[in-house]
Amino acid sequence: MKKCMLIFGTRPEAIKMAPLVKEFQKYPEEFQTLVCVTGQHREMLDQVLRIFDIIPDYDLNIMKQGQDLYDVTARVLIELRDILKKEQPDVVLVHGDTTTSTAASLAAFYQQIPVGHVEAGLRTHNIYSPWPEEMNRQLTGRIATYHFSPTSLSRENLLKENVAAERIIVTGNTVIDALYWVVEKIGKDGAFRDKLEEQLFSSGYDVRRLENGRRLVLITGHRRENFGEGFISMCQAIKTLTKKYFDVDFVYPMHMNPNVRRPIYEIFGENLFGLGNIFFIEPLEYLSFVYLMKKSTIVLTDSGGIQEEAPGLGKPVLVMRNTTERPEALSAGTVKLVGTDYDRIVNEVSALLDSEEHYEQMCKAVNPYGDGKACERIVSTFR
Ligand code: UD1
Ligand code: UDP
Repeated sequence: MKKCMLIFGTRPEAIKMAPLVKEFQKYPEEFQTLVCVTGQHREMLDQVLRIFDIIPDYDLNIMKQGQDLYDVTARVLIELRDILKKEQPDVVLVHGDTTTSTAASLAAFYQQIPVGHVEAGLRTHNIYSPWPEEMNRQLTGRIATYHFSPTSLSRENLLKENVAAERIIVTGNTVIDALYWVVEKIGKDGAFRDKLEEQLFSSGYDVRRLENGRRLVLITGHRRENFGEGFISMCQAIKTLTKKYFDVDFVYPMHMNPNVRRPIYEIFGENLFGLGNIFFIEPLEYLSFVYLMKKSTIVLTDSGGIQEEAPGLGKPVLVMRNTTERPEALSAGTVKLVGTDYDRIVNEVSALLDSEEHYEQMCKAVNPYGDGKACERIVSTFR
């Protein structure tokens, strides 16, 4: 019996690791599956655990308001010491590029426990963009024994760094496993759709507004390198767009980081209710977020995960960043980098809203990130 410990701590890691937890749990005679959450995120992590019905074996509960990179790194490292000593797992699995995943990899390495890196090999080669994620994933890559790459391009990146070919397994991204599961449920279960619409309504957005051809721009943002200036100009651009397009709804589920919310209050005022066609709402549960993505016309975001999900749903994504470690959908033409420049954001959103031809060119459904079987492939490596 192999003991596998999955360690994660933020919303996106949880969404992408949840289907993997479930896959390991399918084989109780082969694996003892342990889940350890760091709680780098609290509310946004718990939302995901609830939906996927995951009860962690360990919860480090490290989140503090206004935590910085030192806080997260140090707390995860120290807290994991005794847990790893006690459990001595055969392998620790971490995900992606957060500080939780890098600190957890280091904690495992200090006890010579092999690390499996899920979503391995993504690179921008610019250590400050995204920051600190690019360095996080490079460091985790150095520590890892097993590299689960989502695409052949990410495999190439690792080969160039002299990672042994036999240690790299191209699996697809586990986010597509999660996405397919939700999309299938949305597709065939009317009662489920009604429930999601109700949830959205109580979160502050009524999707029935879209029934008469009204369009929707879905917005998210949270990147550290956009804090300050970047977020201010993003918000100014969004404000201009809401006034230019009264016939379009703009929905912005706000990340809980105070650095994300401050510029929103600065540009839109302290009272974010009743602003007409812009809806600032609390972070949505994954299921209702996917539902809203499906209903949207354009997605405007700086998120990593959303760059993988939205193209699969045939939605054009304008990415408010200057670089991306996910060039596959960029090459396919459904993702475009627009940075945080005010004019660029206004012009690119307007071009998509104004020209049907331009819109059609960008909204072909492509899915370079997987076939929904990534978790199966990862687990089979250990069987
Ligand atoms: C983190 C990750 C980032 C990932 C992002 C996904 C690092 C350094 N950053 O950034 O790679 O893309 O998550 O969303 O690992 N907060 C809450 N409740 C929550 C979550 C956050 O109140 O459920 C607030 C807290 O004040 C917290 C702050 O947000 O201190 C920042 O959280 P943190 O995890 O440090 O950074 P993120 O910007 O969320
Ligand atoms: N997401 C969500 N609710 C929201 C906004 C996003 O469930 O209100 C999901 C989204 O579908 C994606 C993930 O969160 O799977 C992306 O998380 P985030 O943008 O915070 O992090 P990143 O992917 O940039 O690391």
